[in-house]
Amino acid sequence: MSRIGIIGAGTIGGILARKLGSVGHEVRIANSKDPSTLEDFDAPGVTPKWAAEAVDGVDIAILSLPQAAISNLSEEVLGALSDVPIVVDTGNYYPARDGRISALDDGTTDSAWVAENLGRPVFKAFNNIGGMSLLTKGTESGADNRVALSVAGSNGSAKQTVLTLIDEVGFDPVDGGSLDDSWRQQPGTPAYCADLSAEELRGAIDGASESETPKYHANRDQQDPVGGTEYMHRLIRHGQMID
Ligand SMILES: NC(=O)c1ccc[n+]([C@@H]2O[C@H](COP(=O)([O-])OP(=O)(O)OC[C@H]3O[C@@H](n4cnc5c(N)ncnc54)[C@H](OP(=O)(O)O)[C@@H]3O)[C@@H](O)[C@H]2O)c1
Repeated sequence: MSRIGIIGAGTIGGILARKLGSVGHEVRIANSKDPSTLEDFDAPGVTPKWAAEAVDGVDIAILSLPQAAISNLSEEVLGALSDVPIVVDTGNYYPARDGRISALDDGTTDSAWVAENLGRPVFKAFNNIGGMSLLTKGTESGADNRVALSVAGSNGSAKQTVLTLIDEVGFDPVDGGSLDDSWRQQPGTPAYCADLSAEELRGAIDGASESETPKYHANRDQQDPVGGTEYMHRLIRHGQMID
């Protein structure tokens, strides 16, 4: 059992909180406001907190925020995050939602930019699955056609812990390489939101080509980052899990 703090109580943060609480982790969750605004977040093992409290002293922090919100995190939150052994970023850069961020347009990977803003390393995970698939497609280890999810970041025991979290919430874990490799699982790439098996996902990650970056960015610019959000939030907050 780990103590896990999640900042971002929307589609992805909300689903992960429920799933991680249901497998026995002690989960805290926060949005940008007073925790009373999450009082109706009705999930076993999940406690609403202020953002800084949510990640203070935890084993693992998960940031599930719009990319641009990373630059608005308070000093208190940044201070608490600096002491957390493992930080996972689920985020994706969508200019239509986040505005243009020149470093990302110029090729810094989304999560390397997050790490720079936080002043500490992060892992990129849970970014390349759509909310509805994350909600409904988790299965037992060994199940036929199990969907796989990748983790990018430094090798070592911390990465292994993130790979294990992926398995615990119902997906086959795949090593996606270093944080510098994480463009291979960003929006617009073949590894993005395609609900692939482990073998297929490894192939998609390995097969991504830097020369295709303009195409990946054009794909990303055409994707809708907010479709179905209100419907998903209702499902998640009121415990109407489908799986
Ligand atoms: N939706 C998907 O299918 C999907 C799939 C994979 C990855 N992602 C990526 O994962 C990230 C989260 O996506 P999402 O769809 O879960 O977003 P979302 O549903 O819009 O939820 C965003 C959450 O972030 C919170 N937030 C925003 N600014 C904050 C701040 N400064 N401090 C604390 N909390 C703050 C919001 O709280 P308030 O309500 O208080 O503003 C809200 O709870 C994004 O980068 C997204 O691109 C999304």
